[in-house]
Amino acid sequence: MTNTQTYTVSSRIDDRGDIARIRFSPKSGGQIIPFTAGAHIDIYLPDVDLWRQYSLCSDPAETGFYEIGVLKDPNSRGGSTAVHRLATEGAEFKVEGPRNHFPLDETATQTVLLGGGIGVTPMIAMAKRLHALGKDFVLHYCTRSEEVTAFKDDLDGSDFADKIVYHFDDQDDSQRLDLAQDLPAPDPDTHLYVCGPQGFMDWVIGAAEGAGHVPANVHREYFSAEVELSGDSFEVECAQSGITVTIGPNDTIAKALAKEGLKIDVKCEEGVCGTCITDVLSGEIDHRDQFLTEDEREDGDQLCACCSRGKGKLVLDI
Ligand code: FES
Repeated sequence: MTNTQTYTVSSRIDDRGDIARIRFSPKSGGQIIPFTAGAHIDIYLPDVDLWRQYSLCSDPAETGFYEIGVLKDPNSRGGSTAVHRLATEGAEFKVEGPRNHFPLDETATQTVLLGGGIGVTPMIAMAKRLHALGKDFVLHYCTRSEEVTAFKDDLDGSDFADKIVYHFDDQDDSQRLDLAQDLPAPDPDTHLYVCGPQGFMDWVIGAAEGAGHVPANVHREYFSAEVELSGDSFEVECAQSGITVTIGPNDTIAKALAKEGLKIDVKCEEGVCGTCITDVLSGEIDHRDQFLTEDEREDGDQLCACCSRGKGKLVLDI
């Protein structure tokens, strides 16, 4: 169920590294809908007609506002530059959520948070929560240089500053993240969380799983992904609506069905947010998303309709 609400920009700080830190408070006053560490909100950007997902970096105990950090990325599809342009104090936005596809296991005895660049945002909320719980954790924050390290002043002044280790690409190797040394030994009660650019994610996940950390304990949140949408044509039958369409080599299931009047909600359109998850009754799925876990893929009963395809005919439960 969607819960679209109107929020007002209550403050904005332009931090280092072209990162805007923006707080949203309910337009109607009162409290925000509560969230848990790792959650995100969806923000609608009218002039580019896009919904974009942003991880919350505020303290989950905070009740008056959500805070996000947005990197101005000229190579994005326009979402981040639109936020930077539109999110002035007092501006109003349609917001959905919060939702949490990246929840924190609060029972872990040891937690390692690994944030690359703007991927640090959910880690900050997690660090605040873990500190409040009195848990053992460390936050590794990797950036190109200290000059572009947003949130640093706040983190250095926080009560958990001693749990933060910075790694700057432009400084000597001794302070770089060394996964062979910096990751703890695998243990069922040790959980790792990683968010950042694709190369950073691939590197950390590969090293962690290679060292013996089980995939279920290596939690990941992709904030964008390069997704290959094209492929061979295939047929999709929609069991409930009775519609059957052929998905062309450069089309997607969601777009092809929309042309037939059957709308599947999409937001990121690159397989990272999970908005377009659709149940599959039969057929072999060619998963292209980053959202589903390996176990969910093996179950073969759902797909991301914005990007995934079929190897032959698929029957969907819509
Ligand atoms: S719309 Fe985000 S995963 Fe499909």
